[in-house]
Amino acid sequence: METYLVGGAVRDRLLGLEVHERDWVVVGATVEAMLAAGYRQVGRDFPVFLHPESGDEYALARTERKSAPGYRGFVVHASPEVTLEEDLRRRDLTINAIAEGPDGALIDPFGGVEDLRLGRLRHVSPAFVEDPVRVLRCARFAAQFAHWGFRVSHATHKLMREMVDAGEVDALTPERVWAELERALTTPTPARFFEVLQRCGALARVLPELDPLLGPTPESHAGSDDARPRALRALDRAATLDASPEVRFAALVLPLGEAGPVESLCARLHAPHAYRDLGRLAAAHHPAVRDAAQLAPDALLELLQRLDAFRRPGRLADLARAVQADDQDALETPYPPAERLLTAHAAAAAVDASDLAASGLDGPQIASALHDRRVAALAALS
Ligand code: CTP
Repeated sequence: METYLVGGAVRDRLLGLEVHERDWVVVGATVEAMLAAGYRQVGRDFPVFLHPESGDEYALARTERKSAPGYRGFVVHASPEVTLEEDLRRRDLTINAIAEGPDGALIDPFGGVEDLRLGRLRHVSPAFVEDPVRVLRCARFAAQFAHWGFRVSHATHKLMREMVDAGEVDALTPERVWAELERALTTPTPARFFEVLQRCGALARVLPELDPLLGPTPESHAGSDDARPRALRALDRAATLDASPEVRFAALVLPLGEAGPVESLCARLHAPHAYRDLGRLAAAHHPAVRDAAQLAPDALLELLQRLDAFRRPGRLADLARAVQADDQDALETPYPPAERLLTAHAAAAAVDASDLAASGLDGPQIASALHDRRVAALAALS
């Protein structure tokens, strides 16, 4: 039996990136031989094992053929006769279809090393179309490596478009879409993910709520940064600010201008509530947040209340960061509206109301007195 390192580990090592996860392919072995060697079987649909010590995944070399639409329609064939090249051939992109032998030699039957050098995202074979997740993966790699000039090759783009036209991406589950979207948000140039999806037509099918953000034709914003859609500029700027994925998401959806589409997108994709909550605040309240530095004390207090800042103070800085990413005129830190909001919140939250409860006032009167004290505290700031 022979063991080869494959997939993302080889790709990332060749790119000089840190390797997080190692996947191995075992050629010439059987399930019984793996179990006898101490590996623990984990794969239900195909033979994958965990190494007893490293915990790395070892898969028997296999071929796959699609037999029906959707995810479950795969015929998997794993046997000691399946060659390394056959296993590499079933993979998505050439840069993910390079293997490394025990002696460190690369096995690269599909030109993956050359494509890494040229910055080319290219499918291995027409079997690319058998798995619609690959449309999302390809867009994610385009975002991951955009700063090195990686582009989706024309032939692969054409295939992606055909997959969309054939309705293949409609079979993607919300969980897979969200998982790839969330990973794309953490890349250095996340806007590329959405641009690639728009170009092949997948955006309107998979993320219809975001489609209006990108404008009518992808070509309309090619080249000049100023001509790029506001959402994409804000998103990439949030990445430049090293913002969290939640803040990046909020910067992207902010130009939607209302909470409704953010809520339906997040509900459909089962997105974590942190994304939904920050996204809908950003979409609904970004103009007021941007103007926070000019707001009078009572308007400022009202904004803090609308943002639920007294119950959820941690979100305020994140929201201000998303608005900063969208604000064309401001990249400097500290961002004046953020400073103003955070200072105002601290001052208003520090107002002592302990004497009010003992004063004999009823609930609404206490609320009104607290409000007045907070407005006074904010007035004292300016
Ligand atoms: N693969 C594939 N098609 C998919 C998913 C995975 O062909 N839809 C293949 C690719 O060769 C990939 C390998 O399986 O490199 C391992 O997949 P995975 O661990 O999910 O991704 P990586 O490519 O290793 O990288 P990343 O973690 O960045 O996705």
